[in-house]
Amino acid sequence: MKFSNDIYEIIKTRRSIRSFNDKKVSDELLEKILQTAIWAPSGKNYQNWQFYVLKNKKLTKFKELYGKFWKYVKPTLENKLPPKILKLTENFFQTTGNAPVVILVFSKKLAGEEYITSIGSVFLAVQNLLLLAHKEGLGTCVLGRVTEMADEVSKLLDANHLEFLCGIALGYYDKEPPAPPRKDGRIHWV
Ligand SMILES: Cc1cc2nc3c(=O)[nH]c(=O)nc-3n(C[C@H](O)[C@H](O)[C@H](O)COP(=O)(O)O)c2cc1C
Repeated sequence: MKFSNDIYEIIKTRRSIRSFNDKKVSDELLEKILQTAIWAPSGKNYQNWQFYVLKNKKLTKFKELYGKFWKYVKPTLENKLPPKILKLTENFFQTTGNAPVVILVFSKKLAGEEYITSIGSVFLAVQNLLLLAHKEGLGTCVLGRVTEMADEVSKLLDANHLEFLCGIALGYYDKEPPAPPRKDGRIHWV
């Protein structure tokens, strides 16, 4: 499944995918996506993003960690989500949707750079990555809620000098979820 070159269509048809099939993702394609994603703008051109592509052993370890940390997330969602969605969310935490690849995203801590600017820069590259993956027929889902697991993730990668911002589950998929409608009142012409 490949999408058109129309950037408007690419942006609007990207969905968060939470269930992946077994098709292998080639390292060449991942490298091409990552090398292009980093053409994002960044504050002071610091390019302070750091991407760790997890496959094999580190991937298994990360998935174990991610599942373990559901216990911190569950109480914050219990009264907010309908039971069916809560169950699906729990399942995604426990399995990461069988994603064959997870990319962990960090920001390099920089003296003299504003916190918001530095994390904002990294998330611009993340969005590039999500859109490029989508264009290549790959599904992605950002894995947020990282605060409680940040120390263990840094330990896993020996990356204490970095700040863990999010994971990205990535892989091919069979079923596309419906698009959650966008909310009104977010754009103001003044
Ligand atoms: C910063 C961030 C964190 C997110 N964290 C999670 C997460 O932990 N688990 C999850 O299933 N989806 C997560 N998502 C995906 C959102 O739920 C999703 O983008 C939103 O529902 C809109 O759906 P769409 O991406 O298909 O348009 C996250 C998205 C962002 C941008």
